[in-house]
Amino acid sequence: MKHLLCLNDLTSEEIIGLIDYADKLKYEHKNGIRHDHILKGKTLGMIFSKSSTRTRVSFEVGMKQLGGHALFLSSTDIQLGRGETVHDTAKTLSRYIDGIMIRTFSQKDVEDLAFYGSIPVINGLTDELHPCQILADLMTIRESKGYLKGLKLAYIGDGNNVANSLLIGCAKTAMNISVATPAGYNCDKKYVLMAQKIASMTGSCIDISSDPESAVSSADVVYTDTWISMGMEADKDKRVRDFAPYQVNSALFSKAKPDAVFLHCLPAYRGFEVTEDVIDGPRSLIFDEAENRLHIQKAVMATLMS
Ligand code: CP
Ligand code: NVA
Repeated sequence: MKHLLCLNDLTSEEIIGLIDYADKLKYEHKNGIRHDHILKGKTLGMIFSKSSTRTRVSFEVGMKQLGGHALFLSSTDIQLGRGETVHDTAKTLSRYIDGIMIRTFSQKDVEDLAFYGSIPVINGLTDELHPCQILADLMTIRESKGYLKGLKLAYIGDGNNVANSLLIGCAKTAMNISVATPAGYNCDKKYVLMAQKIASMTGSCIDISSDPESAVSSADVVYTDTWISMGMEADKDKRVRDFAPYQVNSALFSKAKPDAVFLHCLPAYRGFEVTEDVIDGPRSLIFDEAENRLHIQKAVMATLMS
């Protein structure tokens, strides 16, 4: 494992290994065991071309807990935002720092950064993928259910970056996944095919439809995300109309197993993709999920950068 650009960069064993490591780091952190020897003196550059609360804070705090330092590099402040190439940015940053976390629009830019640079690159979200989020989600599901293999996750809503990465993450961990999106908002075909290929080896079941009720039926985990991802704001009115039948409310949630849990990567928009009674209800794990970003990303950074 040299970079984390897409969950397909990791084997199933590496994903489970990272979750095991994150569980250990979480337990130790809560019991006062320090981790500041692990990346002592190392620096992570964090390039952001989009907003963030969780990703920014969890990477910065995680790096501090590991004994290193994180630099916040807004693309509006660095020369990348004024047209300096990804090539030159990658080569320059590789001379100063020990790793890069990047949140941006184009997946290709993240891949180019890894290709041209000589330090590990971590994808902190692109228009196509959000691998760190899905690692935290898998950790949260295993924490709650005790295992992953054979569980059913239903993803309802936009076939976006989170959905694409969930397809790969579930396929890799032998979870079954049912995705229900409205017509025209499907997951990226490339990632559906990738997930199907992985699933044929792990035994996971991938189901793609436009029917939220059948997707949620007997699910162990129900997941949704915003209908308006960053960069989609201009389409808000149309999206709100198109996605209305895909709201995760108590009627839809009740079709899942009685002990099903609810996940959302956050930020959430109550009254749109999910209702308050579900997201703030007793089976919602959203803040464990947000917390686990810290622990799993510490495991990722420690693995890639030490
Ligand atoms: N879930 C997530 O990535 O949140 P932020 O956009 O706040 O980083
Ligand atoms: N799909 C959302 C995820 C935010 C963490 C977006 O891209 O805005």
